[in-house]
Amino acid sequence: MNDQQVFTHLFKLADEYFAGQRNGRFLDYHSPAELRVILDLEQPGKTGDWQEIFKWVEKYLSYSVKTNHPMFVNRMWVGANLPAIVGEIIVALTNASSCTFESAPVSTLIEKYMIKEMLDLVGFKNGDGQMTTGSSNANMIAMMVARNLANPTIKQAGMFGQQRLFAFVGADAHYSMDRAVNNLGIGVDQLIKVPVDSMGAMLPAELLRAINRVIESGGLPFFVAATAGTTVRGGYDPINELLPLRDIYGFWLHVDGAWGGSAILSPRLRQHYLRGLEEADSFTWDFHKMLGSTLMCNILLINKRNQALATALSAGDGSYLFRNENAVEMEDLGPASLQCGRRVDSLKWFLDWKFFGREGLAARVEKFLDLCAYAEEVVGRSAELELVVPRTSFNVCFRFKVSEEKSNAFNLALRTRLYEDGTTLVGVAYIDGKVVMRLLVINPLAERADLDTFFRNLIAKGRELRQES
Ligand SMILES: Cc1ncc(COP(=O)(O)O)c(C=O)c1O
Repeated sequence: MNDQQVFTHLFKLADEYFAGQRNGRFLDYHSPAELRVILDLEQPGKTGDWQEIFKWVEKYLSYSVKTNHPMFVNRMWVGANLPAIVGEIIVALTNASSCTFESAPVSTLIEKYMIKEMLDLVGFKNGDGQMTTGSSNANMIAMMVARNLANPTIKQAGMFGQQRLFAFVGADAHYSMDRAVNNLGIGVDQLIKVPVDSMGAMLPAELLRAINRVIESGGLPFFVAATAGTTVRGGYDPINELLPLRDIYGFWLHVDGAWGGSAILSPRLRQHYLRGLEEADSFTWDFHKMLGSTLMCNILLINKRNQALATALSAGDGSYLFRNENAVEMEDLGPASLQCGRRVDSLKWFLDWKFFGREGLAARVEKFLDLCAYAEEVVGRSAELELVVPRTSFNVCFRFKVSEEKSNAFNLALRTRLYEDGTTLVGVAYIDGKVVMRLLVINPLAERADLDTFFRNLIAKGRELRQES
């Protein structure tokens, strides 16, 4: 095959795969041992043989999860938007690192343009921003900026012999916060998990109590993260109630909107879920989750401090890279990044943004919420299912009803059975020790009929399993 034939064949396969993603089962399931045999990865390569390469590609496509399938309701991402896929292909074709303007001029300007768009959308003034490798890292970078601001000697001297710093998050915050305190030398013991209310939202009075305890013990409360859409329950911490505490105690108020930050696109949902966001100090938001850009696609935005990222992150001699002799202003993105090589994530996001527009994406998010309300209704009507906690937003946490002592094992077994026979893949999590199925509806093509099918299949399998046990 010559290059042209390679492209022709590749696009034929891509077209067939894309068109068939919603058909049949979401997965042709095999156990790891069976799949190892089928894939036969140890088979020697045949140098320069494109037929062989395409056999590997076909195997990959045949045995992967079809994440665009309506019965894939497991994770915070699904099959990606077509404009984003086009962007990915172009990024691979042009293969560049978006750390300097000279090697990546277009993506640098696109990233800056999108950062500006998002700062304006959020309402951050004189702000800063960067695309990162996901909200886990964005949470850590925000914490690092806050740490270095709280104690500017840390960048040079490290954490040794310094006043103890304390960070605070809601009890349901994402585990990336624990990892951030570990990575930054703050220590997991200095991450305080603040109790939440029955809707999973951080209780400001409990935060205040925890802050006072830290101050009394000689510690410095430097960072509070409000979660906008918690991972399991979809709870929103009350940003506007945390702002007055920030003004008194001077901590950095970060908002982790990895999942539920997309509510910002809809004025109605923003008003409901994100009041006060424009006054926070930083905000992270993933486009690869609810909005369907390809993984990874994230932005970290900083309010009011337009050099905060480069100030906190730059270290060491980057002069071999960041010379910028010909530019009037500093255009390189690298100095404000954790990385040296930076994947170009801006193009896919830009293409999605231009193709769907804010209104189009807002309508999508509103539709997801309506579908979640419908799912909640279906659970409520069913004699066999029950909600485990009230629904706050985009997460529907339910289980199949059996006796309390059998419930966890039963629901785990039910979920596994649904997965292994290729029926559906739904998320699972624990809430107060109870196993719940976490249904997330973020497929742009999802309709009520898909939810009806999902619940019908789940109930049928649940009945089957109940008979057997
Ligand atoms: C609330 C929250 N924050 C952060 C993250 C981490 O995001 P990422 O996968 O982009 O690192 C997640 C992922 O599920 C999340 O739910």
